[in-house]
Amino acid sequence: MNNHNEKQRLLNQVYEPFRDVSSCPFAFTDLTQTVFGEGNPSATLMFIGEAPGRDEDRLGKPFVGRSGQLLNRVLEAVGTSRRDVFITNVVKWRPPNNRKPTPAEMAVGKKLLDQEITVIRPKVICTLGSSALHTLLGPEISISRARGNVFKQNGTLILPTYHPAYILRNKNELENFMSDITRAVEIAKSRQQ
Ligand code: URA
Repeated sequence: MNNHNEKQRLLNQVYEPFRDVSSCPFAFTDLTQTVFGEGNPSATLMFIGEAPGRDEDRLGKPFVGRSGQLLNRVLEAVGTSRRDVFITNVVKWRPPNNRKPTPAEMAVGKKLLDQEITVIRPKVICTLGSSALHTLLGPEISISRARGNVFKQNGTLILPTYHPAYILRNKNELENFMSDITRAVEIAKSRQQ
């Protein structure tokens, strides 16, 4: 079995206990399904968002609503696509009324996220927004200071940027967002073997 198929097999194994939406460890109501990560299991670049929203819950895929469409456009503009990267969230179930997951929910979500990271072994992780940033690098670090900088953790480079939903509301940060994602793509390409 090649490395790519083996990674897909291991991911399926990680996801298996959570396939049924009733496996959700939180008292979330109105859930349709678990929203797992999606993309290339051999990707060198992984994006991590917060939690699924209404569109993601309905379609069962991460980042397929307005935020996802912006992310797709930026990926294409910087010479890659969502098929070439891996996209996931800290929390795999839609919080009620699209509220932000609590720190305790994110701590539970991190266990499954860590297993995804272990299987994919990306060279670069680009965190989208403060939830993913705080989950990976701790709650003290502010997004305005961290964004665009590169951190190293267990041999993986972490490059935080804004959440695309924030960019939809703050178009003046689009240039910074694009430059952060360009940087993440370039570093991931340079580390491809
Ligand atoms: N926002 C996120 O953080 N993740 C999604 O999948 C969609 C919107």
